[in-house]
Amino acid sequence: MSIKLDTNPLRKGLQTERIVDPCVFVIFGATGDLAHRKLLPALFYLYLDGLLPRGFAIIGFASSELTDDEFRQSAKLSIAKAVTHVNLEGRLWHDFAEMLHYVHRTDDTSKSMQMLKSRIDDLDSSIGLGGNCLFYLSIPPFVFGDSAIAIRDAGLQKDEKGNGWRRIVVEKPFGSDLESARELNKILQSIFDEKQIYRIDHYLGKETVQNILVFRFVNQFVEPLLNAKFVDNIQITVAETIGVEKRGGYYDNAGALRDIVQNHMLQLLSLICMEPPRSLDPEDVRDEKIKLLRSIRPIYMARVNEVALRGQYHAGILMGERVPGYREEEHVRPDSQTETFVALKLKIDNWRWDGITAYLRTGKRLAKRGSEIAIQLKCAPRIFFGEEHRDEVEPNLIVINIQPDEGISIRFDAKVPGLSYHIQPVKMDFKYGSAFGASAPEAYERLLLDAMLGDPSLFARSDATEAAWMICDPIIQGWHALNSPLYFYAPGSWGPKEAMEFIARDGRSWRRL
Ligand code: BG6
Repeated sequence: MSIKLDTNPLRKGLQTERIVDPCVFVIFGATGDLAHRKLLPALFYLYLDGLLPRGFAIIGFASSELTDDEFRQSAKLSIAKAVTHVNLEGRLWHDFAEMLHYVHRTDDTSKSMQMLKSRIDDLDSSIGLGGNCLFYLSIPPFVFGDSAIAIRDAGLQKDEKGNGWRRIVVEKPFGSDLESARELNKILQSIFDEKQIYRIDHYLGKETVQNILVFRFVNQFVEPLLNAKFVDNIQITVAETIGVEKRGGYYDNAGALRDIVQNHMLQLLSLICMEPPRSLDPEDVRDEKIKLLRSIRPIYMARVNEVALRGQYHAGILMGERVPGYREEEHVRPDSQTETFVALKLKIDNWRWDGITAYLRTGKRLAKRGSEIAIQLKCAPRIFFGEEHRDEVEPNLIVINIQPDEGISIRFDAKVPGLSYHIQPVKMDFKYGSAFGASAPEAYERLLLDAMLGDPSLFARSDATEAAWMICDPIIQGWHALNSPLYFYAPGSWGPKEAMEFIARDGRSWRRL
């Protein structure tokens, strides 16, 4: 399978010199939303890119009663929705479909696991998988631990013949607080070695996020500016227009802080603020990230309202369409206090960032979809141009656009052509699409490939997940203990008006995306 099959010139497939070992990819929760929207299309793309080995199989493992053929049919429908430029007929689809298998998980866990085991053994002897097996837990978080235990009880956590590798990929959220994350780490580490455990955070698979390290540490002009002497503040935004879709049951127990801040946003903050790692070795990078997370000033529950604000969307109109309020969403409690919007002020107590605030905000049903990191520099002394032009000077801004307009833009001040010294901010833009002529591969594609290659660089380490909970736990507990207000906001807005006042108290305003 060395020939690239992809025919879309606008999409740059993944390329690597590294070769995936023959293996079986077992998807726990194979009929679920994530498996169909992300995992199966990502595996199909890897197949198109010629990156799957000759000996390769996918086993869907879930509670719906399906035959192999039915699973193949449903996978085809989902892949067709995601991979619209490829005709899923003929040999192309046929060869991929042959890799798909299904095992029905019944209420009798041990029997189902034995069926899974014998299917793995059969495939191993028929197509040669070398005893290599990756388990992907695409299931509700509260069954992560039980599933790992079931894998162990069936003797699947290691290859009986001792030749092959075993790995487990765990979806987010990793626990619901520090205690449950520690508990889950304990269970996983009692069954697998840390190097066999892959805690996924799909933000780390995004090209723009990986580029943060290059932007910071390869460009001489960037790094000298990134410290308290030159930076005024950092704003990180993850804005979504979608609501909770069909995930109300999960989301209502999670909320925006657990769903987005604890993982994606704290990862972004650590990448933009950490010290330069000794090398790009996964452990060196992870060591620096954890140091940064541990430098974030602890939040005291009693003062939570000064540094954290929560909101929830009500019903309204978004892009011309009426959308329900959060409390009207399926599987959401009608009196839910769950936040769909969060704004935070975090201080980093280290030499580099002393006194600087990082403002974080995320929300669903906001005016526009967009994730970015904006670094606002301090204003240069306004001594040159006299009273009349002083107010025209705008602080320099470096914006890393994570999505959807992937790129980096730098705002600086320029002289307006003419006789006087009028000053106006202008922008220099780098856009991935125009610079590289193709869109980047999907985050999941990269991460699934890395897990199969045994490369943990873009996965979270156990100490990082725990450190992130240490930051978030006091916020959740503080909101609860103080019965903090939940501010409502209209779909299509930028969150509750109180969020504007929240940042205005520091003499600043949120960036408009
Ligand atoms: C997931 C969250 O981790 O990230 C979702 O569970 C959210 O609620 C999604 O919609 C956002 O991902 P992206 O890649 O669209 O920014």
